[in-house]
Amino acid sequence: MRTQVVIVGGGPSGLLLGQLLHKHGIETVILERKTRDYVLARIRAGILETGLVNMMREAGVAERMDRECFVHHGTCISYENEMFDINFQELIGQNVIVYGQTEVTHDLYDARAAVGAKTMFEVENVEIHDADRDAPCVTFHAEGSTQRLDCDFVAGCDGFHGISRKTIPETVRREYEKVFPFGWLGILSETPPVHEELIYANSTRGFALCSMRNENLSRYYVQCDLSDKVGNWSDDAFWDELKRRLPDAIAEKLVTGPSIEKSIAPLRSFVTEPMRWGRLFLCGDAAHIVPPTGAKGLNTAASDVHYLYEALVQHYRDNDSEGIERYSERALARVWKAERFSWSTTNLLHRFPDQTPFDLKMQRAEIESLHYNETAQRWFAQNYVGLPY
Ligand code: APR
Ligand code: PHB
Repeated sequence: MRTQVVIVGGGPSGLLLGQLLHKHGIETVILERKTRDYVLARIRAGILETGLVNMMREAGVAERMDRECFVHHGTCISYENEMFDINFQELIGQNVIVYGQTEVTHDLYDARAAVGAKTMFEVENVEIHDADRDAPCVTFHAEGSTQRLDCDFVAGCDGFHGISRKTIPETVRREYEKVFPFGWLGILSETPPVHEELIYANSTRGFALCSMRNENLSRYYVQCDLSDKVGNWSDDAFWDELKRRLPDAIAEKLVTGPSIEKSIAPLRSFVTEPMRWGRLFLCGDAAHIVPPTGAKGLNTAASDVHYLYEALVQHYRDNDSEGIERYSERALARVWKAERFSWSTTNLLHRFPDQTPFDLKMQRAEIESLHYNETAQRWFAQNYVGLPY
């Protein structure tokens, strides 16, 4: 078999790239390890930057998102009983969209099926060959046999645990990592959101986040120890802890209910360089991970897709390799800014086991500066809504 671009991984990165390339008549095959239902069962964040929203519209996949999403003009930050709003609209004339990543992925799968683009599920033993030559190919096991796909390019969209990054020789790769000494315990509940905007809470007991999916589906998180287990947390214990980390006025109006999902996620920052090796391009979580504090995971995957999609269209339409040559440099320039914002918001809002009283004073001073300093708020707003591509 042969195609123009093999996309390894059928998550948001691979699906969005495939849909955009299809719009330009560029053929792709997506190889996905899991089933469609498994991929769609993943609970992920739900804040979409304008850049991603525009690409969903360009891909022709925005109809349900535009109908069902929430437009948020700002976000709230609380510390003990204080709470303030950072109003993106007033500060920089921009906003963010609240629309679950699961819904983004669902819409992209439906759109891909509608155009008849090939997606192979439950694919095993994917291997990328000769990516540093002019005629790469991908072998894999599917439908009971070992198969081979010859192609022009390979997009490694297979996430942090995929094989694409490891296809790049260790002698070529440079990896940067920071593992945070805590995790996030998250729940999903069929209850109305406690506030019309998200609330990022810094408290003496640790970080908490109040988010949402729709008017009757809320997403909440509390910082927890890395050694903590979901089984240690009854729903009541979670709700009690969440209330203790929120301002009284918010805690009093929190509507609790049974959790329909409960999980613990670790927090890490990770970047691999370069994001290109010959005709292999890394995209999304395959190349970088951020702590979820800044809601940058999906949105940074989206900017990779933007640069790669433009580069491949430039190659096939204009026979121009400039975008391909500069993909890694361009993608990484924005990746590192997203890493910094995610790292700084994580440091600002969480309690660290080794924090000294002085450290806590510095953290408090920085939050108060964000509370009362318009320039600090504008910097936060520019990064939260998404820096330009
Ligand atoms: N072969 C084929 N598919 C694979 C392989 C493999 N060896 N390894 C992983 N995959 C698939 C996974 O099953 C998953 O569906 O690749 C997909 C990668 O998807 P994500 O991990 O969601 O990564 P990405 O598409 O880059 O999206 C980034 O997802 O994880 C969140 O927080 C992250 O919001 C960010 C977004
Ligand atoms: C979520 O809704 O899951 C969410 C929102 C914002 C974040 C992280 C997660 O920063």
